Amino acid sequence: MTTHANASLSAGGLPLEPIERASTDALRTLQLQRLRAQLTLAWERVPHYRSKFEAAGVHPGDLRTLGDLARFPFTTKDDLRSNYPFGMFAVARDQVVRLHASSGTTGKPTVVGYTAADIDTWAQLVARSIRAGGARRGDMVHVSYGYGLFTGGLGAHYGAEKLGLTVVPFGGGQTERQVQLIRDFAPSIIMVTPSYMLAIADEFERQGLKSESCSLRIGIFGAEPWTNEMRAEIERRVGIDAVDIYGLSEVMGPGVASECIETKDGPTIWEDHFYPEIIDPDTGALLPDGEFGELVFTSLTKEALPIIRYRTRDLTRLLPGTARTMRRMQKITGRSDDMMIVRGVNVFPSQIEEMILQRAELAPHYVCELGKDGPLDTLTVRVETKPGLTADDAAATQAARALQQAVKTFIGVTADVRIEPPGTIERSVGKAKRVVDKRPKP
Ligand code: DLL
Repeated sequence: MTTHANASLSAGGLPLEPIERASTDALRTLQLQRLRAQLTLAWERVPHYRSKFEAAGVHPGDLRTLGDLARFPFTTKDDLRSNYPFGMFAVARDQVVRLHASSGTTGKPTVVGYTAADIDTWAQLVARSIRAGGARRGDMVHVSYGYGLFTGGLGAHYGAEKLGLTVVPFGGGQTERQVQLIRDFAPSIIMVTPSYMLAIADEFERQGLKSESCSLRIGIFGAEPWTNEMRAEIERRVGIDAVDIYGLSEVMGPGVASECIETKDGPTIWEDHFYPEIIDPDTGALLPDGEFGELVFTSLTKEALPIIRYRTRDLTRLLPGTARTMRRMQKITGRSDDMMIVRGVNVFPSQIEEMILQRAELAPHYVCELGKDGPLDTLTVRVETKPGLTADDAAATQAARALQQAVKTFIGVTADVRIEPPGTIERSVGKAKRVVDKRPKP
């Protein structure tokens, strides 16, 4: 257990919320009470949940202990997709003040909605996360997560404002200008994907500046897996403390869990709003704390989109609390499915497949290769031409360009498209292997 000079203050000197210091017993009591209400809301307001609960032979009244949650059915991205766009909402559309969306395997995104109270809870939890990261009164926060349907930019933004800090809503891209503004405004905190932080550091150096002498004191990094080695590299290069913020749009957005600067030992899960479980990804069986498996979340306080036992596909384990009583999750470095995260953007092979199938010149034999160009992820799509065409036919070259453009426009990542002669991509005997990850293993 870490001890603090003053247990009611964060490492940055800002006051903690009472729940952050509550006893485990008080926390479990609150969770049970909130979980009952959340299951009841899902049952009463969302036909999808009611029919799934009925099929599993469970009713919200069956929840007597937190352990009883394991009797309830899981929710997956497919459930959200098959109820596209608003079918999983528990409130009338006119109660929804915000929508966000993330990429989906069928081309349809996963849509999430928030009531005014949900937005307020989210802002409070991101504020808590930024405070846990060591924020002090008067700090300025430079936000380089993307704004828009992605939850990163606006999530970070509202949280920083809620904490009373000055926000610079830059968003992603335009690295040269980012660096110029960081130099001119002198922010103390940056919120960005860790890989993009390295690109910003490169740009600092390209401009002949020492990145470690910039104004930044803290980096709050997430939206993609990153290792402790990467943390050390960023901290060394930029001269900051780097902490890990975790979240996913289906559960809320950034700020489901976040790391405390005094321990930097994996994100603390904000358990008063999200109940975590770890399951065996193959059998769905509940695993005890400390064992590795797939992370599953149940929301405890959401109004617009209660989410019951959501399978995140993220692989980790639950660890006891240190800087807070709430449990932590070990830093996530992998996922149990095929989703590629390219510079913080979720990309599914099937999205690319759909686009390939729209081009008459291209055959549906393809593979996505992930690599690294310095700190940044690269995506190469190797795809065959239809028989009869060669890779350097004008039509094939044109199709490659069009595919690259479509991937950029609809998915938001830059892909290198390599056209290959028929028969060069390895054929599978069972499931096709669509992703080859050539990035160095952590
Ligand atoms: O990435 C929300 C977010 C924005 C989190 C900004 C943190 C900062 P999605 O686009 O729905 O939401 O992607 C969620 O990204 O299931 C993980 O696989 C991955 N992910 C998010 N944060 C982390 C992290 C946002 N700190 C998916 N470490 C999740 C590792 C992360 N993976």
